[in-house]
Amino acid sequence: MSQPLPLRIGVLGSGKGSNFVAIDDAIAAGQVPAQVVLVASDVSEAGILTHAAGRGLPNRFIAPGPFRTKLDEAAEAAYIGALREAQVDLVVLAGFMRILKGEFLRAFEGRVVNIHPSLLPSFPGLAAWKQALDYGVKVTGCTVHYVDQGIDTGAIIGQRAVPVLDGDTALTLHERIQQAERELYPAAIAAIARGEVKVKGRLTAGFAGGA
Ligand code: GAR
Repeated sequence: MSQPLPLRIGVLGSGKGSNFVAIDDAIAAGQVPAQVVLVASDVSEAGILTHAAGRGLPNRFIAPGPFRTKLDEAAEAAYIGALREAQVDLVVLAGFMRILKGEFLRAFEGRVVNIHPSLLPSFPGLAAWKQALDYGVKVTGCTVHYVDQGIDTGAIIGQRAVPVLDGDTALTLHERIQQAERELYPAAIAAIARGEVKVKGRLTAGFAGGA
């Protein structure tokens, strides 16, 4: 019987790219049946682009347009075009700090996933680790979820809990959450690639290792 083809993933990020590195390392180690076919960023000097270039993977800065938190129409079309040209099966948001909606989500309906640094539905939005610290919760974590039209509201695929320790700063807590992200995101993408994640309404079937 022939093996299913590896899932073609396009990764979008704005920052240092530690999630992307973890995903690509897991692919290289044979743990995720996927291949990275494009890395794109809205920040020309983002670490994620440097990491992609160092790994010999296609990488592009795509200018986001004049807005701070979203793409303008031309930029949205450029992102859609680049991802379509690369024939991606799944769009993986790894620290992409702009809101994607409308046309973009219609173009890749049900095929966009994100990692968020809290246990959703708690603390959606920016600097979620700082929100958790300021609120005083004792446990936080990270969530991989499908992206829908809301802010961090899509169906949850997997989560990892992380303790908040006495003396934590925003920095130490974020680092502990990011360690958990680097385990959870590759495992979640592997489960999607193997067809183990099924969405039914707001709910997803869990995967082994999703909690
Ligand atoms: C990650 O911690 C991710 O959860 C967060 O950005 C960071 C990117 O780090 N995403 C969000 O806050 C999205 N709302 P990385 O560039 O090292 O992967």
